[in-house]
Amino acid sequence: MTKAFIYFFVLLTVFSSCGGKKTKYKIGISQCSGDVWRNKQNAELDMESNFHEGVTLCFATAYDDSRRQILQIDSLVSLGIDLLIVAPNQVESISEVIDRTAESGIPVIVFERKTGSTKYTAFMSADNYEMGFQMGRYVATQLFNKGRVLEIKGLPGSSPATERHEGFVNALKDFPEIEIVASVEGDWTQEKAYNEVKHILPQLENIDLVFGHNDRSALGARKAFEESSSIKKLPKFCGIDGLPGKDGGIKLVRDSLLDASYIYPTCGDKLLILALDILEGRPYQKETLLSSAIVTPENASVQYMSGEEIINQQNRLEILRNKAENYLQELTNQKAMTIMTASVVILLLVMMVVVYKYWLQKIRINSEREKMAQQQLEFYTEISHQLRTPLTLIEGPLSRLSSTDEFKKLSPENSEMFTILCRNAARLSELINRLLERQSGKHSGELSFSEIDTMTVQNLNPAAQNIVKTPENAFTLLIVDDNADILTYLRTILSGSYNIFEASDGNAGLQKAEKEVPDLIISDIMMPVMDGLEFCRRIKENIITSHIPVILLTARSLDENFVEGFQSGADAYITKPFSQDLLLARIDNLLKNRRLLKNIWENNAYNSNKAETQEPQQNNEKTFATEDVFIQRFKAFVEKNLSNSELSVETIAAELGLSRVQLYRKIKALTGCTPVDLLRKARLACGKEMLSLTTKSVSEIAYSTGFTSPAYFTKCFKDEYGIAPGEIRK
Ligand code: FRU
Repeated sequence: MTKAFIYFFVLLTVFSSCGGKKTKYKIGISQCSGDVWRNKQNAELDMESNFHEGVTLCFATAYDDSRRQILQIDSLVSLGIDLLIVAPNQVESISEVIDRTAESGIPVIVFERKTGSTKYTAFMSADNYEMGFQMGRYVATQLFNKGRVLEIKGLPGSSPATERHEGFVNALKDFPEIEIVASVEGDWTQEKAYNEVKHILPQLENIDLVFGHNDRSALGARKAFEESSSIKKLPKFCGIDGLPGKDGGIKLVRDSLLDASYIYPTCGDKLLILALDILEGRPYQKETLLSSAIVTPENASVQYMSGEEIINQQNRLEILRNKAENYLQELTNQKAMTIMTASVVILLLVMMVVVYKYWLQKIRINSEREKMAQQQLEFYTEISHQLRTPLTLIEGPLSRLSSTDEFKKLSPENSEMFTILCRNAARLSELINRLLERQSGKHSGELSFSEIDTMTVQNLNPAAQNIVKTPENAFTLLIVDDNADILTYLRTILSGSYNIFEASDGNAGLQKAEKEVPDLIISDIMMPVMDGLEFCRRIKENIITSHIPVILLTARSLDENFVEGFQSGADAYITKPFSQDLLLARIDNLLKNRRLLKNIWENNAYNSNKAETQEPQQNNEKTFATEDVFIQRFKAFVEKNLSNSELSVETIAAELGLSRVQLYRKIKALTGCTPVDLLRKARLACGKEMLSLTTKSVSEIAYSTGFTSPAYFTKCFKDEYGIAPGEIRK
């Protein structure tokens, strides 16, 4: 849990300090501590980065915690930094992560504090040993070579603490009368120094000088001394860092709170320049030693002043930088605005052009349409007028003829034909008038075209039906059409050769077909109640009517209409207007080419007359399959009941779900024989088989195959096979 929290905190500190500029180089800065000295250095790094294009700095502060610093460096690396600047909290604990980073190919600059790693790219620092040593010498002069000194060291394990201590001790070796009474372990913070001194103070006597490894430690010690009641005279206090500014060591010396300090240079600018030299492949110094100087009451004022001046200049620079950044931001915003405005303007222009073009096109199309409509109107008007002339020449002579004596002598059939002629000439005339009225813009409330259609149906002359004598044994046809004239016309041309039944829509047609089981059906397609396609489909699905050939008659002549027609199971398709000869030939052909079953008691083979090429095979195959099932059922029932001399056609029909007439017509249509003939043929075939396979007598065989007498069996046998039953055995 705590680990996760630390990691989150680490990331937060890293991310929050990583800027989002256009980046060429991302430089990670891992600070061991967070204090004024570090803040000053970070500010210098930041300021310097402004002078270089595309540099982004990612800061992380470990607050004197080595574990945290390791985590922070790892996350800086995972952020994709190009270079790492690190102030190691301690010499050894940070070595491994520095090795790791360097090995991953990221250059590492170690600054100010040393590391055990040897894999860093460059090192930059002031000389901490020298600072300790110089401070020792200065202390000796301040104590006139004699006195008691208290040392407050930096964080154990950090290189400046070790080196400053060594320098200090070595410098005082030449002054045997100066005694370092105690070296207290601090950690660079004021609090730690305060606490440690407060704790040790009662054991100490007459301390003349306190040397803190940094100014903050010296101040902490001073506070502890000041608070102690047993101290009569405050010792001298010396520190290191010598920062400029109001809280810096220089001011503390100037204000006599410290007796000396040593400038520990931050040099953030130099550090960044070194980093960029490395990144951009320029020559650089591997080890850089920064120069430094002691701050004493004598030079503190001057140093403070020049420090203030530098800070002022830096502040002004900062203001300038902010302004420049604001201007830059404004410029960027303006650029974006300009681009956006330009895009909107271009988009609007494009839209305007598109709309304008569309508008032009619409105008053009409209004018073309108007032109076409005008041309169409002119064409129809012209053609309608043209049609009137021949029509007048039909109507006139017809009306004349009807008033002559010859007309009165016409046969009823011809008289009916004449009536049809007159009625349809009138209808055509009416249609043309309607067309002309429409074109001239007169929308009369008169009859519609369909009304004219019905009108003709209602005008049907009933007296004209079934007038011609039909030959005996003629085939029966069912004509289904809603147009009374067509019905009359078809009846007139067909009733001489066929028995005719009529129906005026699909539904009525179905009922008629079931009742009469005609030999062929002629049907219109467009009809009320049930159209011809549905009607045909139902005819072919019905066991009673499925064998009946259907001719569809229609005004529609597109290919897909033919396909539709054939899909409904039609056997032929004739388009209007049709010639009488074509229709008769097609009917004749279909009836002649009916696929009659030969003797079903033999091979069950179909009498395969050649089908008309135009007629769809697959429909016939489907029909044959249905018929096959029907015949199989018929055969099976007959064979089972063969010995029953009482077996009647009624019983067979009932078994197959048909009426006697329906069975008769269907069997006749399929086989050319009557059911009674077929039943006899079955009995004889069975008898013939028994004659050759058994030793039974003719009489026995006759009775067992359902014949009422052997004599009748013998007669029928002779009629069927041309020989007497006895001769089979010979
Ligand atoms: C800043 C600091 C200084 C000290 C230096 C030693 O973090 O503590 O006060 O001189 O580090 O590395």
